[in-house]
Amino acid sequence: VAPLKVGIAGLGTVGAEVVRLIETQARVLTGRSGRGIRVVAVTARSKGKKRSIDLRGVEWAKDPLALATHPEVDCFVELMGGAGDPALSAVEAALAAGKSVVTANKALLAKHGIKLAKAAEKHGGALNFEAAVGAAIPVIKTLREGLAGTGINRVYGILNGTCNYILTRMEQEGLSFAECLKDAQRLGYAEADPSFDVDGHDTAQKLAILASLAFGTKVAQSAVYVEGISSIAPEDLRAAAELGYRVKLLGVAVRTAKGIEQRVHPTMVPKSSSIAQVMGVTNAVTIDGEGIPPITLVGPGAGGAATASAVVADIADVARGIRANPFGRPIAQLRDTAKAPMERH
Ligand code: HSE
Repeated sequence: VAPLKVGIAGLGTVGAEVVRLIETQARVLTGRSGRGIRVVAVTARSKGKKRSIDLRGVEWAKDPLALATHPEVDCFVELMGGAGDPALSAVEAALAAGKSVVTANKALLAKHGIKLAKAAEKHGGALNFEAAVGAAIPVIKTLREGLAGTGINRVYGILNGTCNYILTRMEQEGLSFAECLKDAQRLGYAEADPSFDVDGHDTAQKLAILASLAFGTKVAQSAVYVEGISSIAPEDLRAAAELGYRVKLLGVAVRTAKGIEQRVHPTMVPKSSSIAQVMGVTNAVTIDGEGIPPITLVGPGAGGAATASAVVADIADVARGIRANPFGRPIAQLRDTAKAPMERH
């Protein structure tokens, strides 16, 4: 069987690690997929930057759009980020050409997910985004495939590694918010614009994606109530600790009589609870399914290696010829979620 030919747009920490994993895990990946996976072309903002990966024999495409429509590319891997262009038009072009797309771009999916899934449906390519939520934690597959036969009542958790890292270090070391954020940026956890992390928008984007998969609603970031952590000081965390609590930034999506409620805000959780034990860059997602005890997935939620792990798994699915409905069901079956943010209670 001919190998799957991959084009990668974006060669930052994640992109470089994806190239490396495809090379070092080649035997395992071929075993799983029944065919090889080959990176045939790439594009990145700076071609000259020093990278510790071997790109000999790999073509440099002129720009993301040229890569997305490259006749040799079967699977377009979008790792540029951002809800708009160039990511949006490149992904649209790849799908329109009938190619499969793998992306880690939660902002793009939270804003244009339905439109993109429609294009994938129409032209027959896959649209895979396991890395967009919880990095290496297989939470998309768990909701979409693993729990396909189970009604979901609630999904909640810690979905932003940067915020949890900041809250952990502020509490444990009494450091200032600014200091902790700087370290999270240095370690490669934070978004290019870290206000997306600390103001809760990154969590809201991920929650909107999870809610769509859990409840069969159209993904809509605008339906999420959002409050971030930027006004939290070490004294607040100390005060909570004295009362036996820790503060965590939680994303919660729950089925209510009035519809699906989605909210993101700092929450006091009892120190003895399992969610309070989740420290540092770790993410945790709990899924309450009908008739079964809650399922919690815990693992690395940010960083190059953790994100690349999920991207490569998605590429392997494309190589194997698995094509899931991106949001778990045909687009025509997805219901509208609440248009306006719901009241918090
Ligand atoms: N900035 C994100 C986080 C990266 O800190 O969780 C992973 O999506």
